[in-house]
Amino acid sequence: MGFTRDIKIAPSILSADFANFGKECEAIEAEGCDWVHVDVMDGHFVPNITFGPATCAAIRPHIKGVMDVHLMIAPCDPYLEAFAKAGADVITIHAEAGPHLDRSLQLIRDLGCKAGVALNPSTPASAIEHVLDRLDLVCVMTVNPGFGGQSFIDMSAKIRALRSMIGDREIHIEIDGGVSPATAPIVAAAGADVLVAGSAVFKGGTVRNPAPYGENIRAIRAAAEGALTAEAAE
Ligand code: DX5
Ligand code: ZN
Repeated sequence: MGFTRDIKIAPSILSADFANFGKECEAIEAEGCDWVHVDVMDGHFVPNITFGPATCAAIRPHIKGVMDVHLMIAPCDPYLEAFAKAGADVITIHAEAGPHLDRSLQLIRDLGCKAGVALNPSTPASAIEHVLDRLDLVCVMTVNPGFGGQSFIDMSAKIRALRSMIGDREIHIEIDGGVSPATAPIVAAAGADVLVAGSAVFKGGTVRNPAPYGENIRAIRAAAEGALTAEAAE
């Protein structure tokens, strides 16, 4: 997992066919995605339940690239080892998911995974100011977590603040929620490099007809990269 700030598209399997996760992961990778984003929800930290480490372990052999696990669970510490053993490459926790963010991030790295922090729309960029050297990724939520298909909330000012706070550190800025060809340029121009997209990737396709996944991935990538080209030309 070499570090680059190139645009990476990370489909969220929250919008996939839950009875076909293995094939869905293979299909989105074959159609050109960069990472696979896996949303874990506990019905407590967020008002929805998805699945846990056993499902992550079951889909792991169907993912060749990066398995990006987004934990919307609290407390998170008792479960970090199980998600690492399930094969997560990146484990992202929410800033509010435990009493000691610094300790949780150390634990994720000690388990051999990349460590991420997700910031809800109401959580300020300053929440990570004192843990920057323990971080590999910051996930800026552009919806309130819990459901796919919600409307994009513009967090450009927060993304720009994080980009400047991060400086030369090898920390990805990931965007999660409401990403589409219409909103990708906004977040790319602000400094994001990993774009999570659920509904905008899976719409129109199925495991039997995955070509629309590829069209959707290319449309989001082109929109994001177009914004960067336009900015460089200014
Ligand atoms: C929201 C999840 C997202 C979600 C994104 O709680 O973390 O990953 O699936 O879905 P879309 O792209 O449909 O907004
Ligand atoms: Zn997510």
